[in-house]
Amino acid sequence: MTRTLRLAMVGGGEGAFIGAIHRAAAALDGDWRLVAGAFSSDAERNRRSGEGLGIAPDRTYASLEALLAAEAALPDGERVDAVSIVTPNHLHAPMAIAALDAGFHVFCEKPMALNMEEAKAIAQAAERSGRHFALAFTYSGYPLVEEARARVAGGDFGKIRLVQVEYSQGWLSQPIDRDGNKQAEWRTDPARAGLGGCLGDIGTHAFHLAEHVSGLRVQELCADLATHVPGRRLDDDVSVLLRLDHGARGVLNATQVAAGDENGLKLRIHGERGGLEWSQMEPNSLVLRWLDRPTEIVRAGGPGLGESTLRRLRTPAGHPEGYIEAFANLYRAFAQRIAGEDMAGTFPSVGDGLRTMAFVESVIADAASDRKWTPLTGA
Ligand SMILES: NC(=O)c1ccc[n+]([C@@H]2O[C@H](COP(=O)([O-])OP(=O)(O)OC[C@H]3O[C@@H](n4cnc5c(N)ncnc54)[C@H](O)[C@@H]3O)[C@@H](O)[C@H]2O)c1
Repeated sequence: MTRTLRLAMVGGGEGAFIGAIHRAAAALDGDWRLVAGAFSSDAERNRRSGEGLGIAPDRTYASLEALLAAEAALPDGERVDAVSIVTPNHLHAPMAIAALDAGFHVFCEKPMALNMEEAKAIAQAAERSGRHFALAFTYSGYPLVEEARARVAGGDFGKIRLVQVEYSQGWLSQPIDRDGNKQAEWRTDPARAGLGGCLGDIGTHAFHLAEHVSGLRVQELCADLATHVPGRRLDDDVSVLLRLDHGARGVLNATQVAAGDENGLKLRIHGERGGLEWSQMEPNSLVLRWLDRPTEIVRAGGPGLGESTLRRLRTPAGHPEGYIEAFANLYRAFAQRIAGEDMAGTFPSVGDGLRTMAFVESVIADAASDRKWTPLTGA
């Protein structure tokens, strides 16, 4: 990179989950420096958060509106280049649109918005502003996910027949949303989470990973949504059958009530000649299975990796990279796109956001109807 870009963050104050991960990831390669923020809607927590992060008091703003107005008035060499939005879902669309319209690039958390209408409004704002929009589908940033994608695209397994994705968490097995758990509380509130609960929160990750790696688009789906914890207002368990391009079939399961499970995201794809398996909790191994030869395990940093995978790795074999590095690969690609130096590959953007919102809406429509198959339309 010819220069370090300046980043502002909205959300991610004391006690928040994902903001700190974004900060570590953005800083990892020296492409970004956090210089401004509106970290919390609580004034005192916002002040403490800014201070703790070494942000100048006059660039720790009371709100996104104040941040955009003040930053837009700064000279070129000082103004932030981009805004990271790491707030609950209901703020993604209004904040992303305001930041894009004010002339800033945006790195936004998933799901893109509360619904398709909002997602389309973000897409229009990105289009009219000419600014870049990145979406935090983190798992696409893992080096061995890139290796998997490239091998499928290169035809190693022949025509793809099966796409199976599972995202199994257990942290919402009890009604902790009513016991003061901040992250659980807004995730189970339709006004702040959106149309889907588990569906929007992690079902979208699973869907994105499946389409991203397989290179296939889901054409139709058949869905069942469940809410296992009494009184919860949104789904906490999702099962979906998928019909993809060229006759491929798939299964997507996402749940947050698999008691005891941590962050079990797993993808399996099979073609006519063999298949692959990748698991987020063992992200530095990619298992390749064949009809006519023994199973292979491809390792991060080891032999046999493609060029696009090597660009996403930082350490030699046996020195594990993980979640923050995967996130950092998205921040790096985003920085390079802004600087016009595309070298680090791609990052999820508007198109991915629209697809995932169409998935959410189609699943909800199908689960609520007597129909067997619902087309995935709208993106
Ligand atoms: N990509 C991933 O892997 C991943 C993982 C976790 C969360 N997420 C997404 O990140 C987002 C945040 O999730 P979280 O778990 O960190 O939530 P959180 O509740 O821990 O944090 C949200 C933060 O936003 C702040 N906030 C709320 N309203 C604000 C406002 N008006 N102005 C400024 N700050 C405000 C809160 O004070 C808090 O600091 C969600 O959209 C979630 O879906 C993505």
